[in-house]
Amino acid sequence: MSSLYIILGTSVLTVLLAGYLGQIYLPPPKPKVVGIDLGTTFSCVGIYQAVTGRVSVLTTQDDHKCIPSVVAILDDGILVGYDAVAQAEHNPSNTLYDAKRFIGKTFSKKEVDEAQKQYSFKLKPDQFGMVSFSVAVNGTERLITPQEVGSLIIQELKQAVERNLSAPVNRAVLSVPAEFDDKQRNFTIKAGTIAGLEILRVINEPTAAAMAYGLHTKSNIHNVLVVDLGGGTLDVSLLNVQGGMFLTQAMAGNNRLGGQDFNQRLVEYILEKIKGQFKKLLVHKEDLQVLRMKVEEAKLNLTYHNTASISIQLQSFNNSPFKETITRGLFEKINSDLFLRILKPIDTVLQATELSPEEVDEIVLVGGSTRIPRVISLVEEHMKRRPNTNVDPELAVVTGVSVQAGILGGMWPLTVSAVELPTRVKKIHIH
Ligand SMILES: *[C@@H]1O[C@H](CO)[C@@H](O)[C@H](O)[C@H]1NC(C)=O
Ligand SMILES: *[C@@H]1O[C@H](CO)[C@@H](O)[C@H](O)[C@H]1NC(C)=O
Ligand SMILES: *[C@@H]1O[C@H](CO)[C@@H](O)[C@H](O)[C@H]1NC(C)=O
Ligand SMILES: *[C@@H]1O[C@H](CO)[C@@H](O)[C@H](O)[C@H]1NC(C)=O
Repeated sequence: MSSLYIILGTSVLTVLLAGYLGQIYLPPPKPKVVGIDLGTTFSCVGIYQAVTGRVSVLTTQDDHKCIPSVVAILDDGILVGYDAVAQAEHNPSNTLYDAKRFIGKTFSKKEVDEAQKQYSFKLKPDQFGMVSFSVAVNGTERLITPQEVGSLIIQELKQAVERNLSAPVNRAVLSVPAEFDDKQRNFTIKAGTIAGLEILRVINEPTAAAMAYGLHTKSNIHNVLVVDLGGGTLDVSLLNVQGGMFLTQAMAGNNRLGGQDFNQRLVEYILEKIKGQFKKLLVHKEDLQVLRMKVEEAKLNLTYHNTASISIQLQSFNNSPFKETITRGLFEKINSDLFLRILKPIDTVLQATELSPEEVDEIVLVGGSTRIPRVISLVEEHMKRRPNTNVDPELAVVTGVSVQAGILGGMWPLTVSAVELPTRVKKIHIH
């Protein structure tokens, strides 16, 4: 009898010991769920690391974390991301981008005609007004849906994760714009399913950004202002957080304000200077293209330095050199009215929620254009509080959606939860 107890006792002890040693010495569990930010212009994927508690945004192509949301359909295959962008100029009618603007949405004939003017590929609505992209493959028309474009991008991200983990991945959380309705959400989920992923949850981009800052775990944070300023659009949301539950209380935005507008002002300024120096307008299209590239570079440099210089050899004037130094102050002056427009949707969401700036507990910035020092200081002056800038604004959404993936994959302590409550508020558009 007693020897049986001893055997039982030892085996229990062995199991306990194995569990204890396992905790110390076994490699950390591999993430079971990944987070995906399927963006209009860029897409990225992240995993939550159980041991360090950090999110790794994975390298997808070459040294790039995020890849352009661009897909090219060729006779002999499909290219995604940077590879698709590299050949875009020679293959404009089969290079598809902006698919997110069309996913799960119906358009009137007039709206399709209007949108068609912006794109070098062909839009083809079905009888319900849902748009597909018409491309030619081996001389035959093929229709590609926006969710298929999304699935090709997601597939590329999925492969990057599988390469990194050396293991298959089949579950994910996706982020979507807060303004997406049920149908747009369903079609985004479909993009994931086509790519071979089970989509466990879809969360709003502003909520994801707030989660990137761990705001679901902070009991003293209730009202969160999320300002998302990208290349061409501004989105502002006011979220309420209570015990890990997020509720979107108001949304406002401007679909025609972003980094491209700031560049354009600088381009116009330089063109005036060139005209002053050479007494003539540029005639070569290439000069304008080079100028646009240099202006983008100068804008990025002005985020970290007080001056940036633009120098070009102008083909229009027998390769004459042109050089101009731009100070940060000048950049801010020529864009001052545009920068001020950022405050309007902020005021709109404050009015809609009847909150004063002092009642906002945290400000979260999303999107590359929120790196501009004047944008940060304007928001700070207006809200009387320094916005949070600890997370890279271009990776905030993918970071947060990966935190949510980590929670759903059981990588967090069970006491931590994050749930998004459905909301019926509509986005207020401001121009
Ligand atoms: C197009 O034609 C080539 C050559 O016949 C063939 O190899 C390729 O598979 C075709 N592409 C598609 C998408 O059918
Ligand atoms: C996976 O990604 C992490 C985080 O970016 C990186 O440190 C690691 O080297 C990658 N591993 C492989 C095998 O690519
Ligand atoms: C979205 O999908 C859910 C679950 O499959 C379904 O119940 C709902 O009717 C769908 N909604 C729309 C608008 O497609
Ligand atoms: C931007 O900064 C880099 C590194 O300091 C420099 O090499 C580059 O010439 C700068 N570009 C402009 C347009 O100022």
